Amino acid sequence: MQKLQVFGPNVLKGKINVSGSKNAALPILAASLLSTKKIFLKNLPKVNDIKTMIELLKSLGSKVKYKKKTLIINNLKQNKRVAPYRLVKTMRAGILVLGPLLAKFGNAKVSLPGGCAIGSRPIDIHLKGLAGLGVKYKIDQGYVHASAPRGLIGSKICFSKISVGATENLLIAASLAKGTTILKNCAIEPEINDLVNFLNRIGCNIKWIAKRSIKIVGVSEIKENSYSVMFDRIEAGTYLIAASLTRGNLKIRNIIPNLLKTEVKILKKIGAFIKVKKDEIHICGSKKIKSTNLKTAPWPGLATDLQAQMMVLLCKANKNSVIQENIFENRFMHVAELNRMGAKIMIKGNKALINGNTTFAPAELMATDLRASVSLVLAALTTKGKTIINRIYHLDRGYEDIEKKLRKVGAKIKRFK
Ligand code: EPZ
Repeated sequence: MQKLQVFGPNVLKGKINVSGSKNAALPILAASLLSTKKIFLKNLPKVNDIKTMIELLKSLGSKVKYKKKTLIINNLKQNKRVAPYRLVKTMRAGILVLGPLLAKFGNAKVSLPGGCAIGSRPIDIHLKGLAGLGVKYKIDQGYVHASAPRGLIGSKICFSKISVGATENLLIAASLAKGTTILKNCAIEPEINDLVNFLNRIGCNIKWIAKRSIKIVGVSEIKENSYSVMFDRIEAGTYLIAASLTRGNLKIRNIIPNLLKTEVKILKKIGAFIKVKKDEIHICGSKKIKSTNLKTAPWPGLATDLQAQMMVLLCKANKNSVIQENIFENRFMHVAELNRMGAKIMIKGNKALINGNTTFAPAELMATDLRASVSLVLAALTTKGKTIINRIYHLDRGYEDIEKKLRKVGAKIKRFK
């Protein structure tokens, strides 16, 4: 298994070009199953979750190939309806093929995604929503067996809890349902809006009718078209935090700064100097990192996917801080590893009490999940000496060329077996 070695401390200086969004691309790839024609997708990040989703589409009968930087998906002969455990277990977003397969064929068999390091990851809200469209399902031997004998019928559905994945599954399924569907209490992350834009681009009829409500008028025909996926705001946020942490000076480019408003506000409060331009944020870290208390929340609150990274920054703050994790029940797996580097973080329920003025010591570390892994890289960047991070396959699921991008701005980081 590959490892990362980081020699610190590093001060990051220069420009970083942000890649396409993994969390926008995954539902869009799943939604391409609605089509029986060709779909052309641009700006997909070269990360393992995208590779796994492409494998899943191929296992369902899609013909998928890259032509230069464009992914061409040809679903003319796509006719399989079973999403196997071996692919869904490593990439939970595989459950997002359930909606399109039901919409297109009226039946599907999809492996339950299973839990992971950050929580049990249930799909009850997905299934309840699909039942609202007339889907009958049973869980048997780790699979969802679902069917819609009379086809999907549009209706009014109010999610019991805000769920990004459930909103995406229902948006895709309702696109081909008979009649109109109204979804209420939707997740409204920018990646959802990117999915709506893609679906409308291929001929669907979807409109926001209130802050968390959306109206989908079912269509019968999906058009051939192309679409460029939005930028990865979590990758961008990670590098903004890295600049603040290393007291560096970075220009984070190819982004829509407005979609990072919450994180920019927090970093300014902590002391960073930030200039926002049209498609770039210029950030200079300040000597003094001020403590603050943070809570993760659905958009437009602080992204849970940036919680671990913010925690590393707050370890270096001038006083103690508290982070409250409100989205996932077990998203503090990075705390044990940070404490092994000399952090003093105590967990009380869904709160992490973080001592400031930490001096990290180099250590051999274990990555546990995607965002925890990158928080260990951030901590290593500010540590004097050599830090080794194991199981970096977690990192490769969602960060394109991370060591290349960091080396380019001065980090002493390399990958080895
Ligand atoms: C998406 O996961 C993202 N993944 C996650 O990013 C992100 O952390 C999360 O949204 C929240 O923003 C992708 O987009 C591929 P949810 P998802 O459904 O859809 C509970 C990363 O690091 N829930 O909004 O799984 C669930 O357990 C990943 O890139 C139910 O109880 O998140 C969680 O506590 C990690 N029942 C909460 O809701 C359900 O049916 C939010 O989950 C569904 C979810």
